[in-house]
Amino acid sequence: MWDNFFFIGLPYITVVVFIGGIVYRGFSSMMSVQRGKWDLSARGDYLWTTRSTGFFGRASIGPASLCLHWGILILFVAHLAGFIGGAYELTSWVDFFRWVGFAGGILFLYGATWALVRRVVIPQVKAMSTPDDYIVLLFLIVIDGLGLYQAAVEMVFGISYSAGPWIGSIFTLQPDASMMAGAPFINKLHIIVSLFFFAYFPFTKLVHVGSYPFGYITRSFISMRRYLALKK
Ligand code: HEM
Repeated sequence: MWDNFFFIGLPYITVVVFIGGIVYRGFSSMMSVQRGKWDLSARGDYLWTTRSTGFFGRASIGPASLCLHWGILILFVAHLAGFIGGAYELTSWVDFFRWVGFAGGILFLYGATWALVRRVVIPQVKAMSTPDDYIVLLFLIVIDGLGLYQAAVEMVFGISYSAGPWIGSIFTLQPDASMMAGAPFINKLHIIVSLFFFAYFPFTKLVHVGSYPFGYITRSFISMRRYLALKK
């Protein structure tokens, strides 16, 4: 029964909340002054931004932001390759997931941990942080940690051969939870926490993923000048 909830019910709830939430938030100003007002010209509310912390010491971000973003991008591509490879029995694709996913996971862990520590130890950054700044990082560190733990400590790999067909069954609307029944507990936990994370996603600053790089096509130019030039 629990497998049916977590591997059939929850994925569909997540897909609906994830897509519906982003669209609704994009056009409704849900989280700003005109709460809930549907407006096609809204193009996201004022909290759509990630509220850059760069002006509190660009140096303190260091390579963290770079590692965090490249890490998650690499993980996305690796998961995609692994699931397609798992569904179609393509061993080299699943192996790609194993090693590239591992590298991406470590890169991401480094960047995300640094980003979290920075929010706690730098007073100005701490003062401007909202709960979702911490919650998203904690979510991602836990998910990433479970993935890495399974690969590096338990040394279990190849769950993609079950997860790939299971994800296929969800998207073809013929859900089959039994495909995940034999997966190790740690991997089930990895997926369940990820599904809760993606359902929470539309209500956080992470919606900025939906605007990059599209905003750049329509927005007006921003004039960038070096500080030295301004002093002249
Ligand atoms: C619903 C979303 C997700 C699903 C269904 C999923 C599924 C999986 C599966 C099945 C594996 C094991 C692969 C195998 O044994 O063949 C895995 C590994 C892994 N996952 Fe995920 N995952 C999801 C989201 C995430 C996210 C958001 C992160 C990062 C924050 C992540 C990081 C990792 C890492 C680091 C590994 C280990 C990779 C390796 O060592 O090669 N996963 N994931």
